[in-house]
Amino acid sequence: MKRLVLAAFVLLAVDTRAQTPPETAFEDDVHAAAGLTCASCHKTEAAGAYAAPARTSIAPLCASCHSDAAYMRTVDPQVRVDQYLQYQTSTHGKRMAAGDARVATCSDCHGAHGVRRVRDARSPVAPANVVTTCGRCHGDPARMAAFGRQATHPAEWAASVHAAALIKRGDTSAPTCVSCHGSHGATPPGVTSVANVCAQCHLREAELFRASPKREIFDAIGQAECLVCHGNHRIESPADQWVGLEKGAVCEQCHDAAGDSGAAIRDIRQKLDTLQDATSTADARLTRAEHAGMLVEDGRLALQLAREHQVQSRALVHAFAPAPFAKTAADGVAAARRAREAGEAAMRELQLRRQGLGVATLLVLAFLATLWVKIRRLPPA
Ligand code: HEC
Ligand code: HEC
Ligand code: HEC
Ligand code: HEC
Ligand code: HEC
Ligand code: HEC
Ligand code: HEC
Ligand code: HEC
Repeated sequence: MKRLVLAAFVLLAVDTRAQTPPETAFEDDVHAAAGLTCASCHKTEAAGAYAAPARTSIAPLCASCHSDAAYMRTVDPQVRVDQYLQYQTSTHGKRMAAGDARVATCSDCHGAHGVRRVRDARSPVAPANVVTTCGRCHGDPARMAAFGRQATHPAEWAASVHAAALIKRGDTSAPTCVSCHGSHGATPPGVTSVANVCAQCHLREAELFRASPKREIFDAIGQAECLVCHGNHRIESPADQWVGLEKGAVCEQCHDAAGDSGAAIRDIRQKLDTLQDATSTADARLTRAEHAGMLVEDGRLALQLAREHQVQSRALVHAFAPAPFAKTAADGVAAARRAREAGEAAMRELQLRRQGLGVATLLVLAFLATLWVKIRRLPPA
């Protein structure tokens, strides 16, 4: 349900650019701020009779300044001047150069009036807006069908862990279309370079995968590295149950119980389950002790350590081998056992204290009773 709401948010985000008249939009434009005027781009038309340039001539128009290093560096010595060069290497740029105006050009991504710096949160290419910008075409079934392509990528992305991180938690380190495809040179990564795309952010898993026997195996059978198990656009939060040979587990696509790898997979899963059981039992024991008023800081520290080992074990699944996964998982189980024992020791101590308190209460009562008897026996005054 939440995912559907996210999808709706991304797909229905209103595109207000088209409705604003050029004069108004240009008031708050990076070009206006740099001292340019309407005539800087509308060079051949008379003032008051400006018209949209042909779509195929827009990139050369923008490039007339943005690829002119000598000119651009008079404005900003650090500025990049390779956008048009990169664009020409992309399918967008190649098709446009061949006269097909249905692909993206500069103003589709940046606008033409009211152009903002790309770091400005209101820019159409800012992380929060870029999926909507690409989605105007990539989410339009009619346009994409003409190229034999799906228009589902924006909706799939919106249902991913990445979208959840970006939209719900405001985590701008989560990837949008351009983090994985690039912007001006937008291309889909080939099957053997997907790990490099994901490695920008998931270095640990990527390094383990590359060093594992799987890399060679997948390249040989033409399977796309991380994508076989995770997909590309609708990436979900994984779980221990993904490892296994039952239906629904990712390994089951290719493995069955036969052979050494089947045994290895069952072993990895069993160790993940043992670790999960050990941490949840330890947590329950510690919580019980805390509710009874006992301090169990050492136990909590041990549990935290067990959880860190659990996180590492889940990453170490990507070694696709018993080592070093097995050792880390075993260390995690040992730490969880220490945590559980701390919880149980605290409960035993509580038991002892209660017994001690019971004995003391009895002694006091016995003393009071004796005192009372003695008082009764005193002769009347
Ligand atoms: C940075 C280059 C640039 C500048 C500066 C610029 N334009 Fe444009 N203009 C374009 C492009 C590119 C288009 C093509 C349509 C699009 O992509 O929005 C366009 C389209 C237009 C159109 C056609 C209708 C429309 O909105 O598409 C009008 C009218 C127009 N511009 C007026 C102006 C006026 C008035 C100014 C100054 C206030 C101005 N332009 C400044 C690049 C520019
Ligand atoms: C498919 C969308 C898309 C197209 C087409 C596109 N851009 Fe960009 N542009 C971006 C994104 C996204 C960024 C933000 C930086 C990044 O991710 O590279 C950007 C950044 C920029 C920047 C800021 C400096 C930099 O390079 O980071 C300039 C200037 C720029 N683009 C100009 C252009 C010009 C000129 C064209 C046409 C030749 C163009 N762009 C075509 C998406 C696009
Ligand atoms: C007449 C020269 C000229 C033309 C034509 C031109 N630009 Fe620019 N553009 C500039 C200058 C100058 C800047 C400001 C650079 C700076 O201050 O870093 C700029 C800045 C930008 C930026 C902001 C870059 C950043 O730092 O984030 C974008 C995006 C951009 N232009 C896109 C376009 C697009 C799209 C077109 C074509 C529709 C276009 N420009 C046409 C001169 C031009
Ligand atoms: C104006 C419409 C439009 C916009 C906006 C647009 N695209 Fe595209 N894009 C297309 C079309 C149409 C194709 C298919 C071209 C083909 O198959 O030859 C395409 C193809 C692609 C491809 C596949 C290239 C290949 O070689 O297979 C990628 C990747 C891509 N776009 C990424 C993006 C990203 C990322 C954005 C946003 C930053 C974006 N596009 C914005 C129209 C657009
Ligand atoms: C986490 C990385 C990632 C993100 C984010 C991402 N993609 Fe992709 N995309 C990929 C990979 C990897 C492939 C290559 C798939 C393959 O080789 O089977 C791909 C393939 C594509 C293709 C070419 C294949 C086709 O179906 O036409 C297009 C177009 C595309 N993506 C568009 C987008 C758009 C639009 C967005 C944003 C809504 C997006 N992607 C977000 C990783 C990503
Ligand atoms: C630009 C950085 C970036 C790129 C590129 C990227 N990711 Fe992510 N990824 C993230 C962030 C940020 C999260 C959210 C982490 C969190 O939930 O704490 C995430 C989450 C995930 C998760 C869920 C983790 C969990 O514990 O729930 C998986 C699985 C994942 N990404 C796989 C991939 C794959 C596969 C690729 C390549 C196709 C990829 N990512 C590309 C940044 C990235
Ligand atoms: C796309 C198919 C595919 C998927 C999915 C897959 N594997 Fe494999 N795996 C293979 C092939 C092919 C081999 C080589 C033949 C064999 O040993 O069975 C292999 C071999 C192995 C090996 C033995 C490696 C060695 O040392 O030679 C292990 C361990 C393994 N896989 C674990 C896993 C685990 C764990 C998963 C699920 C998380 C998984 N595999 C998912 C195709 C796959
Ligand atoms: C053969 C299947 C398979 C392949 C290939 C694969 N993964 Fe995973 N991945 C898994 C499984 C299974 C889990 C869940 C482990 C768990 O939770 O016990 C997982 C978990 C993750 C996570 C969640 C965080 C974590 O470590 O628990 C990330 C991020 C991730 N993988 C990224 C990647 C990247 C990046 C690649 C490519 C370099 C990749 N994976 C290749 C099966 C795979």
